[in-house]
Amino acid sequence: MKKILFVASEANPYAGTGGLGDVIGSLPGALAKETQDLDVRVVIPMHVRKIKEEYRNAMTKVAEFDLPLSWRTLYCGIWSLTENGVTWYFVDNEYYFDRDKLYGEYDDAERYAFFSKAVLEMLPHIGFVPDILHANDWQSALSVIYLKKMYTQYNTKAIYTIHNIEYQGKYSFGILGDVFDLPGELASTVEYDGCINLTKGAIVCADKVTTVSARYAEEIGTEFYSHGLHYIIWENSHKVCGIVNGIDLSLYDPEDPTLPAPFTVEDTAGKDVCKVEIQRRFGLPESPNTPLVVMISRLATHKGFDLVKCVLEEFLQEDVQVVLLGTGEQEYEEFFSWIATRYPNKAATMLAYNKGIAKLLYAGGDIFLMPSLSEPCGLAQMMASRYGTIPVVRETGGLADTIHPYNPTTGEGNGINFVSYNAHHMLDALRRALELYNRPEHWAKLRYNAMTYDFSWSKSAKLYLEMYRGLF
Ligand code: GLC
Repeated sequence: MKKILFVASEANPYAGTGGLGDVIGSLPGALAKETQDLDVRVVIPMHVRKIKEEYRNAMTKVAEFDLPLSWRTLYCGIWSLTENGVTWYFVDNEYYFDRDKLYGEYDDAERYAFFSKAVLEMLPHIGFVPDILHANDWQSALSVIYLKKMYTQYNTKAIYTIHNIEYQGKYSFGILGDVFDLPGELASTVEYDGCINLTKGAIVCADKVTTVSARYAEEIGTEFYSHGLHYIIWENSHKVCGIVNGIDLSLYDPEDPTLPAPFTVEDTAGKDVCKVEIQRRFGLPESPNTPLVVMISRLATHKGFDLVKCVLEEFLQEDVQVVLLGTGEQEYEEFFSWIATRYPNKAATMLAYNKGIAKLLYAGGDIFLMPSLSEPCGLAQMMASRYGTIPVVRETGGLADTIHPYNPTTGEGNGINFVSYNAHHMLDALRRALELYNRPEHWAKLRYNAMTYDFSWSKSAKLYLEMYRGLF
C-alpha cells in the first residue's frame, strides 16, 4: 500500500477559512474512496480555538516530543483521529496555535516554520514515512524544502500545490536561520527578488507542482497572473500541471432538509420558497419573479469587486435585487453598506462569513456573480450551480474550466461568461443573464445543465492518482 501525507494549514470541518480548507477537507476522503491501494493521511495544526469539542474529544494523543527549531526547543504533541478512511494528525503547541486567527498574526513565519518542521520530525514518532508528501500553499512550503534538503534520509517524493500564487510567504533574509532554521547554503534555494520566498523554494524543491485548474496552470506562467513568479514557473514548467478541484456533493445538496424548502432538479418549486426566505431575511420586497443576484465572497480586489463598484448602480436600474454576503477590504465593505442604504428595496448587504446564510443564498438565488480578476479554481460557482443558481463569471482560471457559456441554439452550457476585465463587459453578461431569465424555456434548460453538471471529486481524484502513480 502506498502512503500519502497531505500537509496543510487548514481543513474543514476542523478549522477552515476558505477554499483551501474545503479542498483539504474533501480531497483526501475522495482519494481514499477511489482506491484501496492508498493509505491517505493528513496533517494540520491543532487550531484549538476553531476545532469543535466533539472532534477534540474524538482524538487520541499519539506522540509527544521536543522539537528543535534553530536555538529553540519546543513542545510538540501529535493528536490523531480517523474518519472516512483517512487518518488525521493535529500538531499541538498552544503557544503557536491557541490563537484567534489562523493567519495574520505577527509571528506567522515562526508558527508555520514550527508546523512544517513538526511534520518531518513526527514521522519516526508515528511510525509512518510517506511515499509522497503533498504540501499546500506557502504555510506548508517549508515542509517540502526541509524534506528535500535536510531530511534526505527519507526517500519521499514531494508535491507542492499552489491554491493561490498571490500568497507566497515572503520574508526578509534576517530570519533565514533564526526562524526558518535554514543553513546559509540554502539561501539561494529560497531567495527570490532579494527576499526569502517560501513558494519559490517549494517550487524548486518539489518533484511536481500542481495548481487547482488547468487554465490557472497556464496563467501563472504569465506576468499578469504570477505575482512576480512567472520566471520560476517557466523554469519549472516541466513539472507544473493543473487539476481542477471538485466539491463535496453531500455538503452542497438542494435536497438538504435544513433548507426552508428542499428541491430537486425535476421539481424546483422549493427554490422559490428559499428565494422568498432570502428576501424576508434581508429586508427586500418579497417578489418571486424579480431576478435575484447573489454574491458570496471574501471582499478582496482579485475577486473582481472593482468591476462591481463601477457598474452596480447602473445595473440596479433594472428590475433586479442584489444580495452580498462577505467580509474583507474596507473599501468594498463601505461600498456595499452604502449601496444597501441607497437602494433599500433592491440591494442588501451582510458583512459576515456565515455558512448557513451562504447555503440559503446558493439555494434561493437566481444568478451568482463571480467576476474575478484571477481565480485559481473557485468553488462558489460550483456550489451555486448545484442549486441551479446560474453563475455569471469572468473567464479566468478555474472559472473558465468549470463554467461553459450557454448557447441558446444548441442548449448547451452551464453559465454565462465574459472575457475582458471590463465593468461594462460584466454588465453586458448580467444583462444577457436577465434576458435568458425572461425566456423561461431557456432558463429552465440552463438551470438543468447547471444542476446536473458533474462537479464531484471523482474525476479529479483519478487525475491525482495518476500523478501519484507516476511518482511511485
Ligand atoms: C484558493 C483560491 C481559490 C481555490 C481555493 C481552493 O482559495 O483562491 O480559487 O478554489 O484556493 O483550491
